[in-house]
Amino acid sequence: MNIKFVWMNGGFVSGAKASVPLLTHSLHYGSAVFEGIRFYETKNGPAVFRLEDHIKRLFYSAKVMGMNIPYSQKELCDAVLTLIVKNKLTSGYIRPIVFYGSKMGLDPTGADVNVAIACWPWGKYLAKEVIKVKISKYIRIHPESSDMGAKISGHYANSILSTLEAKKAKYDEALFLDYKGNIAEGPGENIFFVKGNTVYLPSTNAILSGITRNTVMALARDLGYEVIEKDIKPRDIKKYNEAFFTGTAAEITAIGNIDGEIVGIGKEGVVTKNIRETYQRLVSGEYPRHKNWLSY
Ligand SMILES: Cc1ncc(COP(=O)(O)O)c(C=O)c1O
Repeated sequence: MNIKFVWMNGGFVSGAKASVPLLTHSLHYGSAVFEGIRFYETKNGPAVFRLEDHIKRLFYSAKVMGMNIPYSQKELCDAVLTLIVKNKLTSGYIRPIVFYGSKMGLDPTGADVNVAIACWPWGKYLAKEVIKVKISKYIRIHPESSDMGAKISGHYANSILSTLEAKKAKYDEALFLDYKGNIAEGPGENIFFVKGNTVYLPSTNAILSGITRNTVMALARDLGYEVIEKDIKPRDIKKYNEAFFTGTAAEITAIGNIDGEIVGIGKEGVVTKNIRETYQRLVSGEYPRHKNWLSY
């Protein structure tokens, strides 16, 4: 990927020069923490969606991993905005990452803490409008095996295994159950179900509590739907008319089939469409509420 500028440890450097030493702790042991953020074209120029919330979660993840980020949240938000301008981009994806530097052995104590931010144009994450998902043979990481509210790179080994499995079986994406057999989340997405005028979703016990999930809960309420968090088992899927994934990368993506079983009519349902279109208006600055979620 050809990236003009990245922000690294306090300054802007060319993408080609931004590299890390081979014995970087986080490369070997999965100890990096990161964020995925999107920015969108609006009438008033590019706007980053929920930038402060993403940077806040980055600081939370860093704290869990014992890292002291040597910048303030405001400094990193400003760096993101300047980076977009320097790269002359109008829409795309932003990847802040905090990682331990050169040190071997599991204990990272004493390793330097590095911060880098890259951004690039990125279209749809999931290739289709309506996707087919496979319930993975791997379960989502047990919530007492880690802190699931932290976005730690090591968690993504679990996500990658399920993705490889799903792709091999010709599905578009994986779906995890949690350790209790409840539907948990996708490898990089949260899940919602719809019945009538109510949207249902798993509680945050064993999942990453997504910022898009939080956004969609607010939008669903704005639109007059009831929102209920509950345990959902695979055998309950047939009770629902619609299902969709949410995530910064995946945005709102309808699920038409889970493990070979058609959900509702197998197409994007009316509630999903309503929420997806409202989300698009929101991130494009065309929705009258939640204006403070956009940083221009
Ligand atoms: C495992 C997992 N669940 C859910 C999400 C959705 O989170 P968000 O909406 O904050 O992007 C992501 C993406 O970051 C993720 O990696």
